[in-house]
Amino acid sequence: MKFSNGLKWSDVTPRADWLNRRQLIASAAALLATPALAKIEAAKSIYSTDEEPNTFDQITSYNNFYEFGYDKADPARYSSRFTVDPWSIQIDGLVDKPGTYDLSDILKGVALEERIYRFRCVEAWSMIVPWIGFELKTLLDRVGVQSSAKYVAFETIVRPEEMPGQEAGLLNWPYREGLRLDEAMNPLTILATGLYGEPMPKQNGAPIRLVVPWKYGFKSIKSIVRISLVADQPKTTWQMQNAREYGFYSNVNPKVDHPRWSQASERRVGAGIFAGRQDTLMFNGYADQVAALYAGQDLAKDY
Ligand code: MTE
Repeated sequence: MKFSNGLKWSDVTPRADWLNRRQLIASAAALLATPALAKIEAAKSIYSTDEEPNTFDQITSYNNFYEFGYDKADPARYSSRFTVDPWSIQIDGLVDKPGTYDLSDILKGVALEERIYRFRCVEAWSMIVPWIGFELKTLLDRVGVQSSAKYVAFETIVRPEEMPGQEAGLLNWPYREGLRLDEAMNPLTILATGLYGEPMPKQNGAPIRLVVPWKYGFKSIKSIVRISLVADQPKTTWQMQNAREYGFYSNVNPKVDHPRWSQASERRVGAGIFAGRQDTLMFNGYADQVAALYAGQDLAKDY
């Protein structure tokens, strides 16, 4: 992938620099000698956590992407046939400029940022991921959201010939997700096109996926090909699969347990067997940015 300024991902952030980032930061000389690193520093965000990110290997080998199978290793194992270039996204519904947009056009003029976010799966494991992406609001503003739009619906690509989990019918495809419009417009909500300075790995939802860090991971839909602005709350994959266990909002909430397990704590992937579990935070630690979205809403009922 190339940016409009002629830079490739590899120019912006060589992976080795990323992996050694902390050592490099310790050395001012190394920093000055590494202009590529300076670019990344400029793209830092106030929304990033300063917690230590999980390793690239952890983030790309322990995945949920049912299009490629149930097992955590299946997405890395079975996604090599998946083709992600060229890629376009259909944007439709209650927008001024509906159409099918080429991803390379969407990315033109978009300011990419590094967002190091906590990521909490509904299965009670978590990671810290250094995403690269841009705010969903930027794209929605460009296509012109009409005042009658109240929700945003998303769909993943359907391509059973490249996705063995789709061929096997593991879920009802396409995978669907949705957000309320104010959630979609929140600055924390990003469309991510990479991580660790590399293009998005296929198992993580190449070439473009949603990341909504205060919600359980299943809301962060991968490999998006359609975004629709709609008036009514859209049906989502896990809600359709089992509405008692998975709600539309699915905000990370340590006080509302999953019917089959506690959500009060989580296991940090890669933490080591003696690390123990850690407390899960309300809104996954993003309450300051998002609690106001739910003022007056009963989050125990409206999960
Ligand atoms: N998107 C699609 N299309 N298909 C999926 O199976 N799994 C979800 C979410 N997005 C999923 C998806 C779940 S359950 C989680 S926890 C995250 O992706 C996992 O993202 P990661 O593999 O990048 O950690």
